[in-house]
Amino acid sequence: MRELQISGVRVVIGEAEELDFAVRDAILDVIRRKPDAVLMFPTGSTPEGVYAALVSHFRRRDPGRPEPSWAETRCLNMDEYWRLPPWDPQSYSWYMRTHLYEWLDVQPGNLYFPDAMAPTPEDACDTMERHIRQLGGLDHCFLGIGVDGHIAFNEAGLPRSRTHVIDLAPSTIQANQRFFSSPDEVPTRALTAGIDTLLGAKQITLLAKGEGKAEAIRQTLTGEMGVHCPASFLREAADRSTIYLDAAAASQLPGEGS
Ligand code: PGA
Repeated sequence: MRELQISGVRVVIGEAEELDFAVRDAILDVIRRKPDAVLMFPTGSTPEGVYAALVSHFRRRDPGRPEPSWAETRCLNMDEYWRLPPWDPQSYSWYMRTHLYEWLDVQPGNLYFPDAMAPTPEDACDTMERHIRQLGGLDHCFLGIGVDGHIAFNEAGLPRSRTHVIDLAPSTIQANQRFFSSPDEVPTRALTAGIDTLLGAKQITLLAKGEGKAEAIRQTLTGEMGVHCPASFLREAADRSTIYLDAAAASQLPGEGS
């Protein structure tokens, strides 16, 4: 793996699998330092390798070697489809339970999901912000990135804010169709932690893989900072952010690519 700094952000470039292990280790380091850390997690295809690496690391724990337990760790999902109940296999709470939480010793009372079944979306957003405040803020936020530069469900072009409800962009609905059996089943609204919620984390880790993310990464690190590329605001948190990229996702950065 190679490390560089771009716009003050630490950038790590490597092979897809070694990136999964590096992000796994970054998350484990947070828990080693602070067992009751508050962690925020994304869904999607990109984090799957990291979650598999965290699970296999946990299952291989050697009782003689102190390795982090998740028993005190507080885990939050950053977004959720509005009105998909937690028992729906397409919901993000289902995703996190099946990919990560049910394989670790996390305590159910330490898990938090945006409440897609709250009386109103505004209630759900207020409750989530209050919960983050009560926990003392986020210690670590792990992010993916969309092809348009979105982070969580903060779509390109919308004003930055804290947790809010969003009408999903047609490109996001289309990208998410692959998880549903028919296009009309894809939810069109979602609850999401806002840019300002995510930037409030003490440490931020973004992982991107594949050529489809290369333009979004170029914009994030070297384009103009603004709502046209929500991830570009990470540069405001450059001192506490690391972006992990495979060669394809890094290919449009200066000096990278062929
Ligand atoms: P992906 O999604 O990891 O499935 O590419 C990332 C995102 O849209 O935030």
